[in-house]
Amino acid sequence: MIIHYKNTIIKTNHNVYDPEEDSFLLAEAALDQIKGSERILEVGCGSGIISAVIKKNTSAAIIGIDINPYAAANTRDNGVEAIRGDLLNCIRGKFDIIIFNPPYLPTYESERTKDWINIALDGGNDGRQIINRFLEDAVYHLEDNGRILILLSSFTGIEEVKSKMIELGYDIKEIKKERISFEQLLVIAATKATGI
Ligand SMILES: C[S@@+](CC[C@H](N)C(=O)[O-])C[C@H]1O[C@@H](n2cnc3c(N)ncnc32)[C@H](O)[C@@H]1O
Repeated sequence: MIIHYKNTIIKTNHNVYDPEEDSFLLAEAALDQIKGSERILEVGCGSGIISAVIKKNTSAAIIGIDINPYAAANTRDNGVEAIRGDLLNCIRGKFDIIIFNPPYLPTYESERTKDWINIALDGGNDGRQIINRFLEDAVYHLEDNGRILILLSSFTGIEEVKSKMIELGYDIKEIKKERISFEQLLVIAATKATGI
């Protein structure tokens, strides 16, 4: 499939998460936030839609990472440098902004499948397993006053994620919202307090 979005042409791949409302909401939020030549990392870049839109419409320097090798390749096909890796494990250095549209659906063992699309959606039993690991690591990869832009869903337990962020020392702000049928989508900007 070919998607035309914000002056950008994005090719998709059947082993990779197809861009949905959450992808578009986070891309919009990112474009609102980027002011210059920030250094940006997109975790879980998938098709690369968010990174490609940022590359096309801003002067920021962006790199993607995804655990799915097809996703890293898909992002590169869409013109953005990307590598395969598990969250921030193989990332060295610090960024002004780290973007993540995470796997956030509560998923029980019995529902789990082995395909890559499951990996894109599966947030563990409570939906927050990957998000919590990401939040714990990301603070070490942010410049002072750097921030995370993360997409959350009402299916994930937004208040629980906010509490985790506060506990980890982030200052949080809701920056974009959209209701889709029974689901509330929300983008939070979580700023690293200085001194962490
Ligand atoms: C909901 S999709 C978002 C894809 C794309 N950013 C978008 O918005 O359309 C979540 C992505 O996170 C990736 N992912 C899941 N677990 C990961 C992990 N541990 N490390 C890196 N990426 C991961 C998935 O492969 C998938 O591409």
